[in-house]
Amino acid sequence: MAGTLTFLLISSLLQDALCGTFNISMPQNINVLRGSCVTIPCSFDVESRFEDNLDDTCKAYWSDSPLFSSRNAKLKPTKEMTGDLKKKDCTTTFNNADFLQSTKYYFRLECNNALKYIFSQAGVDISFIDVPPSPTLTPSTLEVKEGTSVSLTCSAPAPCWSHPPALTWSPNLGQSQETLQENQDKTKVKTSVMNFTASHLHHGNKISCTAVYQKQDGSPDVTAETSLTPDISSGTWGIKMPQNINVMSGTCVTIPCFFDVASNHKINLDDTCKAYWSDSLPFNSGNAKLKPTKDMTGDLTKKDCTTTFNNASLLQRSKYYFRLECDNALKYTFTQAGVDISFIGEGGSLS
Ligand SMILES: *[C@@H]1O[C@H](CO)[C@@H](O)[C@H](O)[C@H]1NC(C)=O
Ligand SMILES: *[C@@H]1O[C@H](CO)[C@@H](O)[C@H](O)[C@H]1NC(C)=O
Ligand SMILES: *[C@@H]1O[C@H](CO)[C@@H](O)[C@H](O)[C@H]1NC(C)=O
Repeated sequence: MAGTLTFLLISSLLQDALCGTFNISMPQNINVLRGSCVTIPCSFDVESRFEDNLDDTCKAYWSDSPLFSSRNAKLKPTKEMTGDLKKKDCTTTFNNADFLQSTKYYFRLECNNALKYIFSQAGVDISFIDVPPSPTLTPSTLEVKEGTSVSLTCSAPAPCWSHPPALTWSPNLGQSQETLQENQDKTKVKTSVMNFTASHLHHGNKISCTAVYQKQDGSPDVTAETSLTPDISSGTWGIKMPQNINVMSGTCVTIPCFFDVASNHKINLDDTCKAYWSDSLPFNSGNAKLKPTKDMTGDLTKKDCTTTFNNASLLQRSKYYFRLECDNALKYTFTQAGVDISFIGEGGSLS
């Protein structure tokens, strides 16, 4: 007798511990974009003896106090708005969140049988926001060596599952892949992963991710943006420009040019840096043949030494080298490579 009783006790305790008790699980809070829909992820459990009471007659109710009935419930979602209650899924979608208020909501289950219960164990705090939060970029900063494979992830909360935000990259540097992912509390986030190979061309140029949220009440879309400015280096002195350029005398010429400095000189790249070009080595700012102004060169702080000469007649048929001089320790002539300037006569042919 005593053995049987102990067995019954233990088995009932086990049942209670495994499932078998009234309980509910939902996020502690959800930020709802005003004018947009919202889905509250929700799952519950009932006492074992009520398992069989979970049937098609069960209905969901929500209200802003832990004490209410089906009659005075503030929110009475239809079957289409809720998950499968028979499967203990109380996930509820409000297409028009205007029915909600910024308050804490509790869930009540009522079936046409003995099962009627308010899950006061936990509620969800609904907060309304007018501006969506900025998407999250991972990593949030990018400092890599040239040639590295980079994978950038942008994620933005998606409180309305049927209309998640649209994510766009600017500039779009490669293939990107979008997914709707689940957080630990079952709320969702839209993510976009963009892969690309780091190039000196990306250095110092802002990469941004924009999330566009569609409203369900007809009001205009709202957007949120996050960006980072990549720092891409080779870690050593170097320069990239064409080996030679054919120019027509009297016309304008642009020399595309990108340089890199040794890691310890990176902090010296500032607004005091100036560009110089000359065709005889060595040279310095004093005896340089060409001293382009700031508006003739690219952004030197972004390692862009692209230079435009409005009148190519200033150049000679020769090989030109680039020198950088800043009002600090950074003064360097890039002798690794130069550009050969050749002239084609007016009416001349390139063939
Ligand atoms: C009830 O659910 C909460 C959240 O899911 C969980 O932390 C807790 O352990 C559960 N309680 C019982 C008695 O199952
Ligand atoms: C992007 O890179 C990640 C990690 O290297 C990889 O798992 C993923 O498949 C790549 N995605 C695309 C679209 O190439
Ligand atoms: C370019 O410079 C040359 C020599 O200084 C000059 O003769 C010519 O008129 C200039 N051309 C233009 C378009 O400014």
